[in-house]
Amino acid sequence: MAFPTETVYGLGADATNDKAVASIYAAKGRPQFNPLIIHLPDAHAARDLVEWNETAQSLADQFWPGPLTLILPRKKDCHVSLLASAGMDTLAVRVPHHPVALELLKAVALPIAAPSANASGKLSPTTPVHVAESLGDKVDMILAGGKAQVGVESTVLNLTSKVPTILRHGGVTKEKLEQLLGKVDVADGNSDAPLSPGMLASHYAPNIPVRLNASSVNADEALLAFGPDRFIRGGKARLNLSERGDMEEAAANLFAMMRQLDKPDHTGIAVMEIPNVGLGAAINDRLKRASTPA
Ligand code: TXA
Ligand code: MG
Repeated sequence: MAFPTETVYGLGADATNDKAVASIYAAKGRPQFNPLIIHLPDAHAARDLVEWNETAQSLADQFWPGPLTLILPRKKDCHVSLLASAGMDTLAVRVPHHPVALELLKAVALPIAAPSANASGKLSPTTPVHVAESLGDKVDMILAGGKAQVGVESTVLNLTSKVPTILRHGGVTKEKLEQLLGKVDVADGNSDAPLSPGMLASHYAPNIPVRLNASSVNADEALLAFGPDRFIRGGKARLNLSERGDMEEAAANLFAMMRQLDKPDHTGIAVMEIPNVGLGAAINDRLKRASTPA
């Protein structure tokens, strides 16, 4: 459901549930799986999910609740969906400064994954009416909480680099961050645009080759199937993204299954053809990146 934050309205779902997260991408019509921000009621909840450090603590003390998102390594036992972080080893966490959002987060007692509640490529919504206009009946419920006060998205700050690096400018300025941290970098390229997560070194790519549009599998390969796969014989291992050809189910399984098949005793992962409809476009985008050698 859509809910208000101080920056823009978010389209939220249970971050620990792959299918719920897949439904976010489906509703937005995103052509890619951009990693999502995980919303939490307080810093304690964030510390359960990511490798916390002193810098994170001092930033949280000063700016949370508020429009600052921190990128930190996922904990080993982190139960947030891999789809929510687009297969990355890091996680974006933030505590929104809005009474309705905080009440919601405390009531559900679950991390909530939420991008801005607009159709992909459209303006971010700052009122519940914007959300209704952009997403209509694609969203089950809109929790109305007035006009978003900040109106621009949160600042995304990467704390996994040597020098803290702004990946996206937003509600907390570089100057404010520098007052606390000293030196702060801004990611290369157009500094007003988010650094494409596909370009981040930490973006997960399998260690073994990925072969697309496979109609057969070699004896030492693993097969990542989609739809009926009985007619393909062999392979060392096989998992099926969705036997019934359901795109949301396939998206929900994508990153977890790729990791499961990414074993040194497989010579590669053969992936069956996936139709480029609906979430298929995002799935194929990700698979294409995964199949391109680094
Ligand atoms: O103010 C906001 O941040 C709003 C409200 C709803 O909280 N949310 C928002 O989400 O703007 P979204 O999905 O539109 O933008 C998330 C940004 C993207 O630029 C994405 O690339 C980045 O955060 N991001 C998320 N996880 C990341 C990660 N692990 N590493 C690097 N960047 C990440
Ligand atoms: Mg957005």
